[in-house]
Amino acid sequence: MTRIVVTRRLPGPALRALSEAGAVTVGAEEQDMPRAELLAAARGATALVTTLTDMVDAELLDAAGPVLRVVSNYAVGYNNIAVDEATRRGVAVTNTPDVLTEATAEFTWALLLAVCRRLAEGDALLRRGETWAWAPEFMLGTDVYGKTLGLVGLGRIGQAVARRARPFGMSVLYHGRHAADPTLETESGARHVTLDALLSQADVVSLHVPYSDRTRHLIGARELGLMKRTAYLINTSRGAVVDEVALVRALRSGTIAGAGLDVYEREPELSAGLNTLPNTVLAPHLGSATLETRTRMATLAADNVLAVLRGERPPSLVNPEVWR
Ligand code: DGY
Repeated sequence: MTRIVVTRRLPGPALRALSEAGAVTVGAEEQDMPRAELLAAARGATALVTTLTDMVDAELLDAAGPVLRVVSNYAVGYNNIAVDEATRRGVAVTNTPDVLTEATAEFTWALLLAVCRRLAEGDALLRRGETWAWAPEFMLGTDVYGKTLGLVGLGRIGQAVARRARPFGMSVLYHGRHAADPTLETESGARHVTLDALLSQADVVSLHVPYSDRTRHLIGARELGLMKRTAYLINTSRGAVVDEVALVRALRSGTIAGAGLDVYEREPELSAGLNTLPNTVLAPHLGSATLETRTRMATLAADNVLAVLRGERPPSLVNPEVWR
C-alpha cells in the first residue's frame, strides 16, 4: 500500500489529491511533528512531504526504509535535507521553486521600505500611546529612490527583487559566484561586482543565496564593517547566511544603519538583544506566506509526489542523478 506522510497540514486541494493516491498521514499545522512521531510515521512510507523545519537526515531516511521513493520539500530551500544521503538511497528530492518567487520578492521590498522609512518604529510608537506631533526632524528615515541596491545572489528571487528596483530609480549591483548571462543582466538592470565592492557601495544589501556550508556566515563582522554606516541589510534567505551575533553588534554600534530580517540563525529563537534594537524590522519567516503562494507551493509539492508515484520525473527534482 502506498503511504504518504505529510508533516504539516497544507492549504488548498493538495492533501485531497494525495489521498487519492495513497493513505495519507498528516501532522498538525502549527507545530513540527515531534521527531519520535515522525520517525515512527515514516516507517514504510513511499513519500514524505516535509517542511523546512523537518530534518531529513540518514536516520529519517533509514526509518522510512527501502520503499521510500520521494522526499517532497514544501519550500524552495532544501538545506534541511541531506540530499546526498537521499541520492545514495535512490530517493528523489524535490522542492517548490518559482511559485514563491514574487511573494518573497514582495516581502523583501516590504522589509526594505519598512526599515528605511522607520515604519515599524512609528507603528510601535503609536501603539504605546506616546505623545507625538509632526515636526521637521521627527523620525527621519532614508530615501530609497535613486539609491544603490546590492543583491547577493541573482537567482529567481534576486531577479524579481531587481525588477522591482526599477520604478524606485535604483542602481542595482549583484554578486554571485559567476556573472549572469548578459541578457539576464540587461533584463534585471543589474551589474556584477565582487562581494566586497557590493558591500562598500550599496545603500541596501539584500541576501538571496541558498544556505550551504559555503554561504554560512557569508555576512560576518568583516563584511558588515565594509558596509556604509548609512546602509541597511535585508535578509529573506536563510538566517545562518548572516552571523547574527556580529549583526547585533553592528546594529548596536552604528556600523550599519539598520536591518530588515525575515529569517534567523537559530530560528525561531533570536540572538540576544536583536528584538530590542529600534533600527530593525523583524518578521517571523513570512516571505512566502500568502494564501495564494502557500496553496501553489502545496500543489507543486503534491504534484512532485504524484509524478514520482506514476514513475514520471517530478517537475522540480533537486537530485537528477536518481532519475537516470
Ligand atoms: C522557502 O521556501 O525556502 C521559504 O523559506 C519558505 O517560506
